[in-house]
Amino acid sequence: MAKAEEYVVGIDVGSSKVAVLIGKRDGKGGIEIAGRGQAPNRGTRRGNIVNIEAAVEALKAASEEAEVMAGVEISRAFVGVAGADVRCVNSRGMVSVARKDREIARSDIQRALDAAQSAALPSDREILHAIPQEFVVDEQGGIADPAGMLGSRLEVLVHLVTGQAARSKTLLTCVNRAGIEVAEMVFEPLATGEAVLTPDEKDLGVLLVDIGAGTTAYAVYNDGEVQHSGVLPVGAGHFTNDLAMVLRTPYAEAERIKLKEGCCLLSMVQEEEGISVPAVAGGAARVVPRREICEILQPRAEELLTLLRDELGRSGWEGQLRGGIVLTGGGAQLDGLLELTGQVLAASVRYGLPHGLGGLVDVLNSPGWSTAAGLIRYAIHAEGSAERRPKRAGFSVRGMVGSLRNVFSDLL
Ligand SMILES: Nc1ncnc2c1ncn2[C@@H]1O[C@H](COP(=O)(O)OP(=O)(O)OP(=O)(O)O)[C@@H](O)[C@H]1O
Ligand SMILES: [Mg+2]
Repeated sequence: MAKAEEYVVGIDVGSSKVAVLIGKRDGKGGIEIAGRGQAPNRGTRRGNIVNIEAAVEALKAASEEAEVMAGVEISRAFVGVAGADVRCVNSRGMVSVARKDREIARSDIQRALDAAQSAALPSDREILHAIPQEFVVDEQGGIADPAGMLGSRLEVLVHLVTGQAARSKTLLTCVNRAGIEVAEMVFEPLATGEAVLTPDEKDLGVLLVDIGAGTTAYAVYNDGEVQHSGVLPVGAGHFTNDLAMVLRTPYAEAERIKLKEGCCLLSMVQEEEGISVPAVAGGAARVVPRREICEILQPRAEELLTLLRDELGRSGWEGQLRGGIVLTGGGAQLDGLLELTGQVLAASVRYGLPHGLGGLVDVLNSPGWSTAAGLIRYAIHAEGSAERRPKRAGFSVRGMVGSLRNVFSDLL
C-alpha cells in the first residue's frame, strides 16, 4: 500500500487549464512523476478565479485523472498563484544585535525579517513570500546566513510578494472543495524557476518569462536568489483574441490558426502561401496570406516584450542578464517569439522545459507543464531547505498561509 508521504503534488490553476502532477519520491532524494492530469479551465481569467463552480470542476477532473494514473488519492498539494493582482517589492529590515557580546542569534535574524515585513501593507493584501536576498552585518553585505557572526547592526534585504487576500481565499476554497488541502500557496514564477532554470543561470542573472493564456509571469534571479518578479496582464490568449477580431473569425478558429500557422516575426515568413479562414456565423471562408497573420501577431508580441523591457529598466536589471532569458509556458511556443525576444530585449534567449524530475516524457517536453513541475521541485526544496539552503532556513512565512488555510477550512 502506497504511503501518502511518498508523494508530492503540484497544482497549477492556469487561465486555460488546470494541471496536476503527482511526484513520487524514489527514496534517494530524487523524484519521479507518477501521475499527471489536465482539464480545460473556464473558471479563471487573467490568473484569477471568476467562476468557482467551473474552477472546482476543472480541479476535480484534473486531479482524478492524475490519481488514476498514479494509483493514489491526493489529499494535500502545493498550489500556484499568479493573478494580475500579485505585487512584488524589495524591502529592508534593520535591528540592533541584542546580545552584549554582539554574537548574532536566530532571534535577531527573525526580528530583522519581521521588520522587513512590517512595511505598511493595505488590509486587503497579504504576504505570500518573504524571501531573504542578503544580510548585511554592520557595513558588510552579501551574507547568506549571519547566525553566529559578530556585529552590532543587522540588516536584511527581502523580496516581498503580496497578493489580494480575497483572491487567495477564493483559490483556497476551490482547492478545498475539490477535496484537497493546500500545503502552501506559491507564487508561480518562483515555482517555475525551480523547474526550468539552472543554478548557473540563477547565479549569473537570468530573466524567467512564463507566457500563459491570460497572464505573463516573470522573475529575475541573480546571485542564486529572486531579485524582482511580477505578473503582466497580457498572455497568449490575447494573441488569439487579436486574430479573431481582425480576421472576424470565431475564437476557436483563431486559436487553431495561431497554433498551426502563427508566427510573430515577419522576417521569418517567406512563402506567399494562403490560409483558409472560416467566417463567423457560417459565411464563406476566405484565403488570407500568412504574412497578414504575422502582421496581426507581431505588434502584440512587441507590446508584451516592451512591457517586460520597461519592467527590467524600472528595476535596474536591463543589460544585467548574463545568464540570458528563458521563455516557458504554452505561449512561449509561438513561432518567432524566441528570435523577437532576443531582438527587443537584446539578450540571449532559450526555451525552458521542466528538468530535474524523472518519469513521464510528455510532461518533461512541454512548457505548459513547467509550473506544475516547478511546484513539485519547490516543495522538495522547501523541505530540504534546512540542510541545503541556509538562506531560507527557518525564514519561511509558510505559517501564515497555513493559518489562513485553517481559518478558512473552519468556514467551509
Ligand atoms: N504551439 C503554440 N504556439 C503558440 N501558442 C501556443 C502554443 N501552444 C500553446 N499555446 C498557447 O499557450 C496558452 C496556454 O499556455 P499555458 O498552459 O502555459 O497557460 P495557463 O497556465 O493555463 O495560463 P496562465 O498562466 O495565464 O494562468 C494558450 O493561450 C495557447 O494558445
Ligand atoms: Mg500558467
